[in-house]
This record gives sequence, C-alpha cells and structure tokens, in this order.
Amino acid sequence: ACMQAGTQSPPTPAGLGCPRAYTPRYPEQLAAAHRPFDVIVPENELKMAWTQPSQGHYDFTVVDRILAYARDHGFGVRGHVLVYGKGLPDWMTSPLRQEKWTRDSLLAVLKDHIKTVMQHAARAYPGVVREWDVVNEAFDSDGGYDGNLLSRVIGPDYVEQAFRFAHEADPDALLFYNDYDADQPGPRASAILRMAKDFVARGVPLDGIGLQMHLGMARPLPAPGDIARTMRSYADLGLRVAVTEMDVGLVPPFGALTAERQQAVYQEVAGDCAAIPACTGLTVWGVADPLSWGGSLPRRCCSTGTTRRSPRSPRCRRCSPEPG
Ligand code: XIL
Repeated sequence: ACMQAGTQSPPTPAGLGCPRAYTPRYPEQLAAAHRPFDVIVPENELKMAWTQPSQGHYDFTVVDRILAYARDHGFGVRGHVLVYGKGLPDWMTSPLRQEKWTRDSLLAVLKDHIKTVMQHAARAYPGVVREWDVVNEAFDSDGGYDGNLLSRVIGPDYVEQAFRFAHEADPDALLFYNDYDADQPGPRASAILRMAKDFVARGVPLDGIGLQMHLGMARPLPAPGDIARTMRSYADLGLRVAVTEMDVGLVPPFGALTAERQQAVYQEVAGDCAAIPACTGLTVWGVADPLSWGGSLPRRCCSTGTTRRSPRSPRCRRCSPEPG
C-alpha cells in the first residue's frame, strides 16, 4: 500500500502511480510499524490528487481510514502534503486548464484546499496530525523557484501564502516546509535556509523544515557533520527540524551501498536528530527496503534494463540511464 503502515490499498488517481500500490503486504508493514514507530505518514493519499480529485470535490475516504487507524492504535500522523507544485492534479495542470488560471483563482484554490483538508483532519481526528508539510519541493537544483504552475502563475510567494492560509485554517498546527537536498551544502539547501530566515524575519508562520533524505539514490551521501550542521542552522533560527522521508538506497541503479554503510548512515542521522532538541523525529519512507518506493522501482521495472515505472505514470516505459 502507498503508506507506511497500511489499511486497504487506495485507488490511484489517473496519472499518479504508486510503484508498490496493490501489493498486499499490510500484515508485514503493520507488524514492522508497530515495533519502533509512533507516527505514520500517508505516502500519497493526502496529496491533492487524492483529496481533491476534481476541483471543489473532496474525497477523504482513504485518508480517513489512515487517520482512524492512527487514532485507534495510538499513532500520530505526519500530514504530507498540502501543496506540492511538482505533483499537482491533472485538473490543474492539463494544457487546456493551465492557460485559464490567474493568480487570484489559483490562490483561491490553494486557500480552499488547505482549509478544507486541515479542518477536516482537526475536527474529525483532533490531535492526530502532529505536523503538516504545507509546501513540498518549491526549489530547483540551482536554488531558483521550480517553474511549476503555482510559481509561474501566482509567483514564488505562493509558498508564503500557503503558510498563511494554513495558519489561518488551524492556528495550533505545526507547519513545515519539506524538501530534498536540504540536508547538505548546495544551491537548494542555501535557498531553503534563505527562505526560512526571511520567513522568520517577516513573521510568516513557519514552524519547521522537513529534510527528506532520500540518500544514496540519485543523491550523494552526506559528508560527516553536514546533517548536524544543517539541523543546528534551523534550530538557531528557533525552528524545528525533522527527517521526513529517509531511505538509504541499496539497490542499483538507485544506490549500491553495502548493508554496513547503510546502517552507518541511518545511525549517523538518527544520532544527529536525537542530539538536538529541535529535531522532532525521523520518518523512513517505507518500513523496509523491499517495501520502499526506491527499492521497488528497479526491481519491478528497471532490473530488466528496458523499462521503468515512472512515479507519475502507472505504466512501465523505456528505462532512462539515470534513476528518476
Ligand atoms: C513518492 C511516493 O513514494 C510514490 O509512491 C509516488 O509514486 C511518488 O511520490 N518526495 C516526496 C514524496 O515528498 O511525496 C514522494 O513520494 C517521494 C519524494
């Protein structure tokens, strides 16, 4: 299932595949999740394409099962994710629709979405969602704003507006900005830190930074000390920090580490988080390598060397040389 400790497998909206959807491994996942975890995260089911499958029409059927499961079994939930410019639903991005949006009409969509989803969770499952990823992956690898529909039509301040809408919708919620490559030096990490400083200085309601940490796939492993330094730089601003989607790739072409090296990386990151009070938790993206999106991609498709399953497409297609 597309979640870390599952209920039923959800229907996958057209165009947004889940590499390991429909594989009925819930008992394994559940058993694993009950041991060391106290928070679960919907891998896809809280994304806009699932919760608002067409404009103004909300569907919480699947998410409700996850939230109810969490409530009944004493888990918290990470609310991933309200605004994901790179993963917008087709009804926003289809070529015909794209041209019709204006800054005001898109801001109205964001406001309605954020309010409806957050208030649904807060009212029906009070206290269950511990952190919200309000905005995901706003930057590109040069540290500029990603050219997605939201940043093109609204402008880069869609990020700030989303945080304001989220705070208005639920003033008690903890609001995170979440991204990859945030943990080690580079243009994207610098851009995120710059944004965080700016938000803090101007009182934009940001509570924390989520460091995804998909390591050893397309990402290099962190140099010693990088992660601790990154965490401290946010703590110094008075922000929280969390490791939100950690996996350490073992399987080519997404990674080719030894199990010992993999263990050492997990240990280092867990130690860094435990050592700093501002770090609210460590979430892994899949409770075991064979259940992980990164682990399952090459095995399912790329191991033949000819096809791969794109995260955005339910079908396998020709394999590109790089992981992606
Ligand atoms: C991934 C899911 O794991 C896949 O099942 C889906 O096909 C694509 O999205 N960064 C994020 C997550 O913030 O939402 C992504 O999840 C992985 C990368």
